[in-house]
Amino acid sequence: MLFGRSAEIAAIEDVISRARSGAGSALVLRGEAGVGKTALLDLAVTRRGDLRVLRTTGVEPESDLAFAALHQLLRPVAGLLDALPEPQRAAVGGALGLGGGASGDRFLLAAGVLSLLAEAAAPHGLVCVVDDFQWVDRASADALLFAARRLGTERIAMLLAVRGDTPLKGVPSLPIDGLPEPAATELLDAAAPALSQEAAAASHAAAGTGVPGVGVPHAGVTGRVCRRMARGAGWRPGCGGSWWR
Ligand SMILES: Nc1ncnc2c1ncn2[C@@H]1O[C@H](COP(=O)(O)OP(=O)(O)OP(=O)(O)O)[C@@H](O)[C@H]1O
Ligand SMILES: [Mg+2]
Repeated sequence: MLFGRSAEIAAIEDVISRARSGAGSALVLRGEAGVGKTALLDLAVTRRGDLRVLRTTGVEPESDLAFAALHQLLRPVAGLLDALPEPQRAAVGGALGLGGGASGDRFLLAAGVLSLLAEAAAPHGLVCVVDDFQWVDRASADALLFAARRLGTERIAMLLAVRGDTPLKGVPSLPIDGLPEPAATELLDAAAPALSQEAAAASHAAAGTGVPGVGVPHAGVTGRVCRRMARGAGWRPGCGGSWWR
C-alpha cells in the first residue's frame, strides 16, 4: 500500500488513460534514492487494465553495455519485428543480437524502436516502464528518448524513473519529493509502530509542546530517534527541521 502520493498517482493515471485513447505521452518520475519512484511504477503497472506492459531497468554493471536496456525491454516482443520496414527491422534486430549485427545507424534504430513499440501497443495499448534510467546504457537511452518524444499519436504510455539530475531532454518531469508529514507518519505507524511513537514524542519535544500523558520528552530523544531511523529504515532524517526528508 502506498501512503500519500495522490497527486503523483493521478498524473500517472492520466498518462495511462490518454494512451488508451491514442494520445500517448511520456513522464519522468524524478527524485532521490528511496523516495518511492519504483513503488509508483509498480503501482502504475497494477493500474494498467488491459494494456500490455513492457519493462526494463537500468543496472550499473550494464550501463556500458550497448543496447542492454533495450534488450530487456523488447525481447518479449521480438516476434513482432517482421511487421517493421526492412531497414528498421535490421537495425533493431541487430541491436537485439538477432542477426546482422548492429548497423550503427542511430536514426534507423530509434525509428525502429518506436515502430516496434507501436506494434506492441496493438490492440489495447502499452505501458512502457523504464526504471533507474540513470544506469540505462547510452545507446538504449538515446533510442528510448527519441521514442518518448514521438508518442503523441500512439497508444503508448512511457513512464521513466530517474535519480538526481540525469538530463532527459524534451520529456516532462514529475518531481517526486519526500512524503508530506501526515503520510510519512502513517507510513511509520504501519511499518514501525514503536519507532513512530518515539518520533512523535521527539517532534513534540522539538516543538516544546509535550505529549499528552507523557510530558515534554528529554531533548536527547530527538537525536536518538534520528539515529534509529537512519540505522533501521535507511530513511534520511532531517534533524534540523521536519524529521522526514
Ligand atoms: N508512499 C509510500 N508508501 C509506502 N511505502 C513506500 C512509499 N514510497 C516508498 N515506499 C517504500 O519505500 C521503499 C523505497 O521505495 P522505492 O524503492 O520505490 O524508492 P526509489 O525512489 O525507487 O529508490 P531508488 O532510487 O533507490 O530506486 C520501498 O520499500 C517502497 O515500497
Ligand atoms: Mg527504484
